[in-house]
Amino acid sequence: MSAPTPPPAVLVLGGTGTVGSRIVSQLLSSQSAHPTTILVASRNGNGDNNPKSDPNLQNISFDWHDTDTWTNPFSTAAGPVKISAVYLIAPPSLNASSLMTEFIDFARERGVRRFVLQSASSIEAGGPAMGKVHGFLRELGQRGEVEWAVLRPTWFQQNFATQPLHLRGIKEESKIYSATGEGRIPWVSADDIAAVAVRALTDAEPPNTEYLVLGPELLSYDEIAAILSKILGRRIVHVDLAPAELEKRYQDFGMPEDYARMMSAMDTSIKFGAENRTNDAILVMTGAAPRKFGDFAKSVKEVWEQQA
Ligand SMILES: NC(=O)c1ccc[n+]([C@@H]2O[C@H](COP(=O)([O-])OP(=O)(O)OC[C@H]3O[C@@H](n4cnc5c(N)ncnc54)[C@H](OP(=O)(O)O)[C@@H]3O)[C@@H](O)[C@H]2O)c1
Repeated sequence: MSAPTPPPAVLVLGGTGTVGSRIVSQLLSSQSAHPTTILVASRNGNGDNNPKSDPNLQNISFDWHDTDTWTNPFSTAAGPVKISAVYLIAPPSLNASSLMTEFIDFARERGVRRFVLQSASSIEAGGPAMGKVHGFLRELGQRGEVEWAVLRPTWFQQNFATQPLHLRGIKEESKIYSATGEGRIPWVSADDIAAVAVRALTDAEPPNTEYLVLGPELLSYDEIAAILSKILGRRIVHVDLAPAELEKRYQDFGMPEDYARMMSAMDTSIKFGAENRTNDAILVMTGAAPRKFGDFAKSVKEVWEQQA
């Protein structure tokens, strides 16, 4: 008697990052509802940040910029793999859209039917960078050639604990730098983005739409600083910089010039109200209320504690 065919796998590109690692752990804990192999892709293929040994999890080495690695998810040591859905996270570069659309076609030729893209609230379909990939998926979807979803999350609550500009600023100087003035953002939890992603990857009914993934409260950086001051028991100050000063600061932390310019320009848009809205997408998609910034900050407050 031949061995039973394993159910199709889900490939999580960027599977060791802030959102990807959470998608992986949520997929693992919902195995009874969605039995599947989870392929966790990153450049070194070590699966950092993810459980090391689970029979349903395989770590894959994949580099967007090295097309030789693109076959790795489709053919592991255990043999050929049938992949049903792919979660797409762009590499940190402004010119990755053509690589990404090329990979989507590559994966379609190997039988992948569903693609879920992580874009950003600030980027419309057809816009720059991931907007082009968004437009490409929507077009394929309109022709019935793929099942698709695009997640457009706003700014992550986790940025304050992971991005060097914020993490070191808060820890070492008790300061948060931005160029957003009094502009407000509906800060979203990466756990909630992952929960929406899991639904989009695994629901029997294909989403074939985009989701603006927003958190529950509109908070300016001044208000974030006040919340952190209360939780940390010391004064955290928001320093409102000119865009050029913020751009320089990002570069001092190792960010390429063009990316730093884009990040700084996004702060100017926030200043003039670009992120000043919220919605119920997380509640509708996951059935749970979106997480609040203060609860996140309390849960990780040790990362901002200063050495004695
Ligand atoms: N942070 C925000 O507030 C925010 C808001 C909206 C949208 N976004 C978007 O979210 C995306 C980032 O998501 P994230 O924060 O969850 O990711 P992240 O924590 O920055 O992690 C990036 C992931 O991609 C992998 N990676 C990096 N370079 C790669 C390459 N060349 N080839 C293959 N894999 C590569 C990394 O693993 P290795 O380094 O080990 O390869 C890691 O798993 C970006 O597209 C960003 O624009 C972010």
